[in-house]
Amino acid sequence: MNRILTSSLLGVVLAAVSFAPGARADDPDGSLLERARILFAPLPADASTPEHVLTPARVELGRLLFFETRVSSDGKQSCANCHQPMYYGTDALPTSVGNHGKVLPRNAPTVFNTAFQFAQHYGGNRASVEEQAVKALTSALAYGNADYAAAEARLRALPYRDLFARAFPDDAEPVTAQNWGIAIGAFERTLVSRAPFDRFLEGDSSAIGVEAKRGLGKFMSVGCAGCHSGPVVGGRMFQKFGLTADYWTLTGSTEKALLGGRDKGRFHDTKDEADAFFFKVQQLRNVARTPPYFHDGSVATLPEAVRIMAKLQLGRDLESADVDDIVAFLESLSGEVPGGFAAVPTLPVAGYRD
Ligand code: HEC
Ligand code: HEC
Repeated sequence: MNRILTSSLLGVVLAAVSFAPGARADDPDGSLLERARILFAPLPADASTPEHVLTPARVELGRLLFFETRVSSDGKQSCANCHQPMYYGTDALPTSVGNHGKVLPRNAPTVFNTAFQFAQHYGGNRASVEEQAVKALTSALAYGNADYAAAEARLRALPYRDLFARAFPDDAEPVTAQNWGIAIGAFERTLVSRAPFDRFLEGDSSAIGVEAKRGLGKFMSVGCAGCHSGPVVGGRMFQKFGLTADYWTLTGSTEKALLGGRDKGRFHDTKDEADAFFFKVQQLRNVARTPPYFHDGSVATLPEAVRIMAKLQLGRDLESADVDDIVAFLESLSGEVPGGFAAVPTLPVAGYRD
């Protein structure tokens, strides 16, 4: 009796497993999509919020300013120098080169989908894309202006007044560092790159391949999604980089004179030892298109970055088949270059454009 009950129960369970709707070799119990939807979400159309309303005039002004070099003290720095259209919003260098050729200690992350992250910069010391753009004006490594007045003087000497006035019609003096930030931020909030993974999450099972599906399953079961989750697969928290060993033992990271030694991440912003080696969990949208990897670009390839993450954050040695599958999943996060970013705009020049 007991045996009969057990075996018939087993039969029911087996039937449920093998005949679950959508069951396939790459998704044995048909629950992959359901599990993925708990952890991830498709990208919204833009990153506007009630506090950050996007108007066409602000987005267009921000697009021009993003490429504008004449506001920098050496006349050569623009956002686009380090966040270039041809490199998916990065400069493809391990670490960026800035004002008067100064070498920065960190790697330039992509600006695509970045406004969806909870904070900006590896140490999270910029609350929003707007604040990031404003503070770049007085960074010695980026725009090199002594103060905001100096940056505004440069900006006011350029033929942007009418464009600012149209974008900020209620302001008596629209050409300000603050409005520079709001306009560039508005543009960045439109840099959304939808990818095959979004279509998969929306129910199109054929949007990503068998290998990517296996990789998605492993990304969740191995524990990557414990840190990398949400619409941009990260960008939601700080975590210590190097939970099982010092990160530089595997990344080969070198000391940085500008940081006085090892890059200790958030510590440099808070000066709190408890924050030492904590970095923003980076978003993974377009990660296959934005090598080299980590905060200092110390790792050249994505398979190597995945292997190092598993070891340093989860204490696991991944088999190469697992690495390949996870990389295939990460490739399904590569989206199209957002429309507003695809072409370099024509910038206003005195006597040519109002
Ligand atoms: C000289 C190169 C350079 C210039 C110029 C530059 N950036 Fe960056 N950008 C970087 C680097 C390097 C980082 C990483 C800094 C860090 O995390 O400490 C970064 C980080 C960012 C981030 C945060 C991304 C993330 O994932 O946290 C945003 C957003 C950004 N830059 C936008 C801009 C905008 C907008 C401008 C123009 C106003 C600009 N950048 C100018 C090199 C540059
Ligand atoms: C405990 C939290 C945590 C876990 C678990 C984790 N990561 Fe990360 N991940 C991070 C942090 C923090 C960074 C940023 C490190 C840096 O750049 O210094 C990062 C960065 C990355 C990067 C580099 C992104 C870039 O643009 O440079 C990749 C790729 C990555 N993780 C993939 C994975 C994969 C795959 C797994 C699972 C094997 C995983 N991560 C597990 C916290 C985590």
